[in-house]
Amino acid sequence: MRRGVFITGTDTGVGKTWIGTALVRLLSRSGVAVRPRKPVESGCPDGNDGLIPQDGADYHAATGGGEPLGQISRFLLRAALSPERAAALQDVEIRMEDVVAACLDGVQENDFLLVEGAGGFCSPLTADGLNADLGMVLGLPVLLVTADRLGAIHQTLATAEAITRRGLTLAGVVLNEVTPVQDSRMDNAADLSRWLGQEIISIRHCPGRGISTLNRLSTGLSGLAGRLVEGSNMKDV
Ligand SMILES: Nc1ncnc2c1ncn2[C@@H]1O[C@H](COP(=O)(O)OP(=O)(O)O)[C@@H](O)[C@H]1O
Ligand SMILES: [Mg+2]
Repeated sequence: MRRGVFITGTDTGVGKTWIGTALVRLLSRSGVAVRPRKPVESGCPDGNDGLIPQDGADYHAATGGGEPLGQISRFLLRAALSPERAAALQDVEIRMEDVVAACLDGVQENDFLLVEGAGGFCSPLTADGLNADLGMVLGLPVLLVTADRLGAIHQTLATAEAITRRGLTLAGVVLNEVTPVQDSRMDNAADLSRWLGQEIISIRHCPGRGISTLNRLSTGLSGLAGRLVEGSNMKDV
């Protein structure tokens, strides 16, 4: 079975790229040949040479520029809408088999493949499939990212159920404090870990993208990274 992880979310804007790029940095720095893929991205602004993938550029930077942007990002869409709708507006039809091929292109047997979908787990990704369908074809363990806010419990339990009902492995749940939690009586980590019966990885809100943010992310994600690569040398993380 291929090594890697499929990063999905309960929604858009929950921190999939935030967490995914931190994992890529962590794995790259520990010597793992990690191949990030963000095959479909909507909301790409126009640049001099065409559309510019924002998430793709973040992943490219996370590899230290080692992984070519063209390998990371394949289907670029202008409208900040669901990819299916954004593609229709551009008069292109993206098929699931092409997305799968883009994910696997350039990935060697021992590489670690990290794929970020678009939107939430049940969001349409192509004309013929959901993010969930890409997850099924790839068969990778799934990392579920959820925003730490009111409503997170339902969204996380419903999405976790959608993942496991498809026979996929839920590799972990990251509860990400995208915006600071205002009510200190809320404890989604404790509640989710009880209802899911598994430990939750809590990532605090980290203003800025400086070294202290990167260090905090590394600390929070190192256990998960180690489990995901299983057997690789993570001592340097
Ligand atoms: N823990 C965090 N602390 C501070 N900002 C965050 C955190 N997680 C996410 N963000 C910010 O929230 C926004 C949405 O995150 P992003 O990773 O792009 O979400 P997604 O990939 O799920 O759409 C981005 O601007 C990102 O920088
Ligand atoms: Mg993203």
